[in-house]
Amino acid sequence: DVPGLVDRFGRVATDLRVSVTDRCNLRCTYCMPAEGLEWMPGDELLSTTEVSRLIKIAVDHLGIEEIRFTGGEPLLFHGLGELIGCAADLVPRPQISLTTNALGLEHRAGALAAAGLDRVNISLDTVDRDTFASITRRDRLPAVLAGIDACRAAGIAPIKVNAVLLRGVNDDGACDLLRYCIDRDVELRFIEQMPIDSDNAWAAQNMITAEEILAILRSEFSLHPESEARGSAPAELWTVDESRHRVGVIASVTRPFCGDCNRVRLTADGSVRSCLFGAEEFDLRGQLRSSEPTESVDRAIAQRWREAVWRKQPGHGINDPGFLHPTRPMSAIGG
Ligand code: GTP
Ligand code: 5AD
Ligand code: SF4
Repeated sequence: DVPGLVDRFGRVATDLRVSVTDRCNLRCTYCMPAEGLEWMPGDELLSTTEVSRLIKIAVDHLGIEEIRFTGGEPLLFHGLGELIGCAADLVPRPQISLTTNALGLEHRAGALAAAGLDRVNISLDTVDRDTFASITRRDRLPAVLAGIDACRAAGIAPIKVNAVLLRGVNDDGACDLLRYCIDRDVELRFIEQMPIDSDNAWAAQNMITAEEILAILRSEFSLHPESEARGSAPAELWTVDESRHRVGVIASVTRPFCGDCNRVRLTADGSVRSCLFGAEEFDLRGQLRSSEPTESVDRAIAQRWREAVWRKQPGHGINDPGFLHPTRPMSAIGG
């Protein structure tokens, strides 16, 4: 009965991605420089109370059905468990998911699942320890693998793994990574690298395309397109070796899926981004902090949120001649 988050092209955003911090404890070469970035100042970051209020507005007034917590690395945000608990208390209860590098998950998966976490996507580009250390600049592969095991033990399902393939770095380990995931009943998705690194180093000719990814996998596995409808999911899925196991490809660049997009993003400093790319942001923090938390302020915030999504652009424009990198790096948007 309440107007949801609709844009000029008729898309409806029902999936909210909430970035809770821009910090990270890895330094993936395709994402951040070795020294890290200039982090957001503490007073600009939303508190746990402020994030939960915005999530409640999104569910109560805007028709949001799924909430995914992202970062930087969301496990570094101390209020994460409390936020998951608040989201789980909302009616109707949203689906609650997490995109994480899994560091620390070994000790926290059980508690987060108990708080209400339904699904986890884990970033893991290789199962070779030296390659992992050279991509992330930290020798932490065992902790990530322990995090995956802890999610399985906690009954979190499905568990997905996200892998970015880099030419000459980890492309030769793609089949090993798939075998590792199949053995653990984890759904692996290979991602085309997008031009959203902090160093502006992305180049189309270096990117490993979906076509190439499939060719690499077909050297050791047989793949058949999944029959299930894809909906708004970024991943195209294939069944592997005629088993129940699947592998995905997220081809944001060569096969954009913007026409079916159902996402909206909230940054850790309280701005709405209607697209991962795109120059426009709508600050909600000002309104959030300007007065007492009343129902009428909540309605005004919801209205501003609707305006932000209404202005959403039709697509990311990566393949257009005048394409400009987003001003925020990936780590400050949350993927
Ligand atoms: P599922 O709902 O589990 O499929 O999650 P997801 O794949 O949407 O989210 P996740 O955080 O695991 O992101 C995986 C990859 O998809 C990352 O590289 C994201 O940046 C990318 N991604 C997620 N949403 C979008 C989007 O709206 N547009 C584009 N271009 N990429 C996206
Ligand atoms: N292109 C595509 N995916 C990326 N990720 C990080 N940087 C990029 C990029 N430039 C992935 C991470 C993580 C997810 C949130 O986004 O590997 O799994
Ligand atoms: Fe951290 Fe994710 Fe960026 Fe890697 S890709 S440095 S895990 S925010």
